[in-house]
Amino acid sequence: MKQKKQKKFPGFLITLEGGEGVGKSTQSVRLRQRLIDKGKDVIILREPGGTAISEQIRQVVLSPDNTSMAFTTEVLLFQAARAQIYRELVLPSLKAGKIVVMDRSRDSSVVYQGMVRDFGKELIDQLNDLSTGHTLPDLTILFDLPVEIGLERRNRSGEINRLDMETTQFHQKVRQAYLELVEEDKTGRWVVVDAKQSLEQIEEEIWKIVETRL
Ligand code: TYD
Repeated sequence: MKQKKQKKFPGFLITLEGGEGVGKSTQSVRLRQRLIDKGKDVIILREPGGTAISEQIRQVVLSPDNTSMAFTTEVLLFQAARAQIYRELVLPSLKAGKIVVMDRSRDSSVVYQGMVRDFGKELIDQLNDLSTGHTLPDLTILFDLPVEIGLERRNRSGEINRLDMETTQFHQKVRQAYLELVEEDKTGRWVVVDAKQSLEQIEEEIWKIVETRL
């Protein structure tokens, strides 16, 4: 399957990516507010999840109880949740000219399942194309943070999912894999933000990036 050209819709798709506890969800809410203040029509979503069916899949794929889940099952469940949210919400919103802000999307699968679980970037990108209807984000913001800081924050927040329980080495690989994707990027859609900064500094930086790209 070939990647189709990027700009297909009047809307604008922003994805937030990174490892555990990097602060994506806090910033997605702040970004949404800034966009609304500017009079923009915006929808904010998370993966896996965001629709009734995708939230049910989320329960299965992230439950810490499902320790016996095969990696192949994991690959396909993330894709199933993605296929549903794109059909139900992302694609219709982009067609209607909305700004869609997503806390994780296709690049999470490339990193976690493709590069760290070793299914390969190519296979995962083919599945991603199927699930998203060949849709690439217009802008992807990588929240880069040393793993120790992210995991400590995650432990304090008290919400531990099945992937949080992986080793520190797993999470180091996740961080490196994201940086590798940025390095290899030919589309210009990736921007890296230093997530060690204060919430206010990160919010400002993201806003400057978004304003210039919209
Ligand atoms: P979540 O609780 O939403 O946390 P976070 O704040 O880290 O985004 O957990 C989502 C988890 O699922 C996270 O560990 C990354 C993982 N994931 C994948 O492995 N592949 C994917 O395609 C997606 C969307 C998420």
